[in-house]
Amino acid sequence: MRKAFVAGNWKMHGSKASILTLVSGLNAKVGEVGDVDIAVCPPAIYIDFVNRSLSTGKIAVGAQNMAEEPVQGAYTGEHSVAMLKDFDCQYVILGHSERRAIYGETDAQIARKVKVALENGVTPILCVGETLEERESGVMETVIATQLDAVIAEVGIVAFEKIVIAYEPVWAIGTGKTATPAQAQEVHAFIRSKLAQLSADIAQKVIIQYGGSVKPDNAAELFSQPDIDGGLIGGASLNADDFIAICKAAG
Ligand code: 13P
Repeated sequence: MRKAFVAGNWKMHGSKASILTLVSGLNAKVGEVGDVDIAVCPPAIYIDFVNRSLSTGKIAVGAQNMAEEPVQGAYTGEHSVAMLKDFDCQYVILGHSERRAIYGETDAQIARKVKVALENGVTPILCVGETLEERESGVMETVIATQLDAVIAEVGIVAFEKIVIAYEPVWAIGTGKTATPAQAQEVHAFIRSKLAQLSADIAQKVIIQYGGSVKPDNAAELFSQPDIDGGLIGGASLNADDFIAICKAAG
């Protein structure tokens, strides 16, 4: 039985004041959530502030990116996995479509980052997903398989026991256009069957989150699909009531 996992990707949003309001709301209400793993991923500069503001052990903290170089060095503007661990980060989102599209991160770079995270005991949340153009031109499965294959080649299938996958169709991110539960389930099943070709055991265990315009009113139906094990939530994770409602829907 896979345990549902819901993570909030705050992207580049928030201020000390707004984050304090958000975290206070989470502290007050997280007790209402059942047996669900929960994490929030603030902008890196706020990670310590969030960790110190959280009064509950029920919410883990993650980062939204990290450097390929594991420790320290002359890499202006970057933060390493060692630094994330120093501030008790348990997760790191890697390969988000915004990193791929805006900052030009390649499959190979993302795969190396996954390896560095795993070697240092930080759980990668590996994002994969197709654009609308790729979906409409019929190459969706090839795109997702290529994204996964780069990581499989770098770390091997067994490592996927310690990787969370987030399927995020690019066309559903921040657009209000959610994949229908059936559309999402189809891709989740594809991802699981692809991994099962290498290890049926790992494929059954791997957590696959759905991300893309998940809201309190569509979360339960998405999460009820057999291969959807929770969500990676953008906009709705910036509101405590909405995020808690989504976490409850995964319980
Ligand atoms: P939205 O929930 O705002 O569509 O964002 C999804 C996302 O990109 C999470 O990583």
